[in-house]
Amino acid sequence: MPVKDNVQIAPAEGKLGVLIPGIGAVSTTFIAGVEAIKRGLGLPVGSLTQLSTVRLGKRTDGRSPKIKDFVPLAGLDDLVFGGWDIYEDTAYEAAVNAKVLEPSLLAQLKEPLAAIKPMKAVFDPEYIRRINGPNVKTKGSKMDKALALMDDIAQFRDSTGASRLVMIWCASTEVFHRAAAVHQTLESFEKGLCNNDPEIAPSQIYAYAALKSGVPFANGAPNLTTDTPALLDMARDLSIPICGKDFKTGQTFMKTLLAPGFKARMLGINGWFSTNILGNRDGEVLEDPGSFKTKEETKLSVLDQILQPKLYPELYKDLYHAVRINYYPPRGDAKEGWDNIDIFGWLGYPMQIKIDFLCRDSILAAPLVLDLVLFMDLAQRSGMRGIQEWLSFYFKAPMTAPGLYPEHDVFIQLMKLKNTLRWMRGEDLITHLGLEYYD
Ligand SMILES: NC(=O)c1ccc[n+]([C@@H]2O[C@H](COP(=O)([O-])OP(=O)(O)OC[C@H]3O[C@@H](n4cnc5c(N)ncnc54)[C@H](O)[C@@H]3O)[C@@H](O)[C@H]2O)c1
Repeated sequence: MPVKDNVQIAPAEGKLGVLIPGIGAVSTTFIAGVEAIKRGLGLPVGSLTQLSTVRLGKRTDGRSPKIKDFVPLAGLDDLVFGGWDIYEDTAYEAAVNAKVLEPSLLAQLKEPLAAIKPMKAVFDPEYIRRINGPNVKTKGSKMDKALALMDDIAQFRDSTGASRLVMIWCASTEVFHRAAAVHQTLESFEKGLCNNDPEIAPSQIYAYAALKSGVPFANGAPNLTTDTPALLDMARDLSIPICGKDFKTGQTFMKTLLAPGFKARMLGINGWFSTNILGNRDGEVLEDPGSFKTKEETKLSVLDQILQPKLYPELYKDLYHAVRINYYPPRGDAKEGWDNIDIFGWLGYPMQIKIDFLCRDSILAAPLVLDLVLFMDLAQRSGMRGIQEWLSFYFKAPMTAPGLYPEHDVFIQLMKLKNTLRWMRGEDLITHLGLEYYD
């Protein structure tokens, strides 16, 4: 048993409120999934917090508790849900429209899902194009909208009796933009909110409202959002955890499985062409070049950082990497992603690998939402603040301290996550050196 925890972890008492901008395919699949699992209608496949174990001590010790028995996490029965969307559909209607889960399963979950009515969203058609809806806050400046979100948060806390909250962005992808002058300090950011500065995106207004309300914020989309000095400083100063960006599912997940393998064996890559067709609302928003650019940036950066072409120019210097996404309505949420990988081996002899991944985006994303919610709450109760790099495992573009390159290799990310849990509980970190077994 641990001698002494490295951090004091407050107990997970009371309800944990999950606040979600975006009541769409991912968030309703997550909420419906939790309700189904609570009723014994399904298993939490894909969730580390529910299924994974963590090995403690030596391989010969036989200690491998489940993560949820090793660190104090909120239970599924303690979760309560709320959110915002530009459409008025309840979570039940949104789940039916998303067509991810079977109507017969949704019918059994109608009561809890229909009770989730989205609050009015903060929306700006300049940031999310191709969709528009009636359920939006229209009055006042961006600061007034931030204050209205803080009111929503306080009311949700009161009405549900939640003792703690976490916010997770599951809304559409905003257009690409970089941090501007207004994002440099909290002072300039707040001034910008009051002056309706066009550089401030809706997701940043939600993040500001969350942090001001003492609520951890996770970003499931590739938007800039908290990745700006003003909001990073705010999270650190107020001792609130943040993490992001862009859930690592589907094709990029496959990339982060394969690329470290090729590199481990010192195999070269000439080209990696990835193309996707998908027909859900996410796909429709991504048809817009601005939103696609945001996505493309996070998808492209992965290979470069895993393969380190500067260290291995003879293997990866000339790698041609392209990513395409096409909106193709007949497929709905059932995406198809093709990868053509041109690799080369001994003496430069070429080989090809083809992958055709018929995946279900929201089915892959839902367990990530659950884990992030539970781990962000754990981080908050453990007094951890600012960027939670140990949650990189879940993201295509993990946030890191300025100047630090992100770690994309999913197995290194997993080791980091589990070592962080061991560290929290005062257990030895696992290095895989293993010489002691041969003494
Ligand atoms: N499914 C995956 O595997 C995956 C992976 C990585 C990232 N993501 C990202 O997760 C997000 C959600 O994906 P999805 O498939 O659920 O999309 P979706 O289109 O089904 O849902 C997004 C919802 O957000 C709403 N919305 C848009 N702007 C809003 C705002 N300002 N405030 C509140 N609500 C707003 C939309 O009306 C929509 O209902 C997207 O940004 C997507 O790129 C998904």
